[in-house]
Order: sequence, then structure tokens, then C-alpha cells
Amino acid sequence: MREELTALREQALRDIAGAADLSSLELVRVAITGRSGGLTRAGEQMRHLSKEERPEIGKLLHEVRTAILGALEVRGAELSAAAEEAELSQIDPTLPGVARTVGSLHPLQHLQRRAVEIFRRMGFSLAEGPDIETEWHCFDALNTPPDHPARNDQDTFYLPDGRLLRTHTSSVQIRTMERETPPIRIIAPGAAYRRDEVDATHLAQFTQMEGLYVDEGVTLGDLKGTLEFFFRELFGSDTKVRFRPHFFPFTEPSYEIDVRAAALGGGERWLELAGCGMVDPAVFAQINDRRGDKAFDPDKVTGFAFGFGLERLAMILYGVPDIRMFVENDQRFLGQFVS
Ligand code: DAH
Repeated sequence: MREELTALREQALRDIAGAADLSSLELVRVAITGRSGGLTRAGEQMRHLSKEERPEIGKLLHEVRTAILGALEVRGAELSAAAEEAELSQIDPTLPGVARTVGSLHPLQHLQRRAVEIFRRMGFSLAEGPDIETEWHCFDALNTPPDHPARNDQDTFYLPDGRLLRTHTSSVQIRTMERETPPIRIIAPGAAYRRDEVDATHLAQFTQMEGLYVDEGVTLGDLKGTLEFFFRELFGSDTKVRFRPHFFPFTEPSYEIDVRAAALGGGERWLELAGCGMVDPAVFAQINDRRGDKAFDPDKVTGFAFGFGLERLAMILYGVPDIRMFVENDQRFLGQFVS
């Protein structure tokens, strides 16, 4: 048995050293340590030994096994290093690399982030609401009378169950006031939907950004200051902002905001960019009714709200001639906005 073990060791070490690659080494390993391999069989023969022989031969078997397993491991490492080296030598590091295309933000997303960032600095936080809305959140709570043209099913996408695709993000004002109490200062970017004929300046789905600030003592001066600051940050310090009286059901008084700036093509041209106003007390009354409390007591709190679309702004800022380009997903267009 002693000689057999010594011979087994010698043969095994020779075979291991002689294996020229990883797959031949694997064959050698199976031949030695596999179910009917030499080492395994030697182990099985242990039980035929006498009590006296067993400790000594056992020790030798242990040494042989350790030597063989060690040699297998060392040779395995050598061979895989050699294989890796051989593979690497196929690579010519002097060849030019393959450039990876790096993605970029969609221009609307880019503009939205810029806008949100400015409002965040003034203490506004992000809010959201569902795209599929109830008539109440989209219209009634916003003091929009039942016969208002916006509610017409020529203008609004209604679902069979009577809900609708929100026509503006103003519904997020309502969602927020249902849930929270003053002070509230939110900015809510999101999709809005209208049954518009799609052309170079209209899409049936577009992006709006809504703002709401409710607290004790919020004034029209706060509204003007906030939006002037916003537009100056966005378009530059030369920006002029004009508040032109208008009507919205949910604000009183209401204004449209016109902006003039070099970044917007400059010149004498005023661009109508947003709607805004002081939250109509009728809106607060609807909210209190719904909540069953007086959290928005019109004698205590006032608020301002505003809303604007992002597509038109992005078209002017980035010189995009057709609104449809934002949704065509054409890499030749989107790839120009690497940021
Ligand atoms: N919701 C209006 C629209 O879609 C925009 C708007 C106007 C929002 C005045 C407001 C506001 O919050 O006060 O045209």
C-alpha cells in the first residue's frame, strides 16, 4: 500500500504538471479525485488494512492527498493565468477605442429640472396628483361652472366612468389642500391633456407646471416677487415681467404673465407664458366642505397660484420649430441636448 501511494503521488504530480491547458487538467483531476479515481480508490482500500497499519498509511494517504490537491490548485492557477494572457495578447491596445453614446436628458425634462430647482430655492416642494382625475378635482373644486367650455367633451378626454384626463395640473392644488394644511408651498410638474388637433404648436398631451402658496398674509406682492424672481433666474437678469389682468375661475384677481428677455428672442416682443392669481375664496370653501373643517379659513389664509406650459417655453428657449419633435423620439433631435 505504501508503494502504491507513493506511485500514485508521483504519477498524479507528473500528469498534473503535464496538463497543457485547463480542460486537460480537468480530465486529470477527474481521473485522480473522481468517483473511480486513484485517490478515491486508495481511500476505499483503507478499510482492508490491519489496525496496526492503519495510522501510518492513513497519515501517508493524507499527505499524498494534500500534495495532489495542492498541485491541482497551483497548476489550475498557472493555466488560467496563461489562458488570460493569451487572450489579452489578441487585443491591440493601440487601436482606437469604441466611443460609448452617453444618454442625455430630454429637453423638456431638462427645463423642468431647472424650473423646479429655482422654486426649491424659494422653499417650494414637489407635489403630484393623478393624470386620471375626477371632474370634481379638475373643475368643480376649482370653481369652474358646469357650463364652462373647458368641460365640453369636445375639449376634454372623458373616460366611460365619468372621470377624465386632467386638462391642467391645477387639480394638484386641490389634491394637496385636501391632504395638507397651511402653510403650503408646492410646485407640481406633470402631464395635461386636451382634445387638440395635433399640429406644429399643439399636442393632445403636454406638460404643465403648477404652483400654489397658501399661508396667513400671502399677498399679490408675494406672487409678483416670486414669479419675477423665477423668470429672471430662468431667462437672465434683463428679463421683464408684465402682469396683465385676465380671468380664471379659480383665482381672483387673475393675471396672465408676459415675459420679455434676450434669451427669448429679445426685441420688443412680449411672450404670454403663464396664468396666475390669488386663490379664489370659493376654492377654499370647496376644500373646507370636503375636509369637513376650516383649515382653509378665507378670513385667515390667503394664497396665490400659477401655472404654465413647458413645451412652448422649451421651443422658444431651445429654438425648436415644431412641438411634435418633443415626442417623436428621434435621436438626431434628442442627441442635440447633451447636458
Ligand atoms: N390652469 C390654467 C391653464 O391650464 C393655468 C393657470 C392659470 C393655473 C392661473 C393657475 C392659475 O394656477 O392661477 O391654462
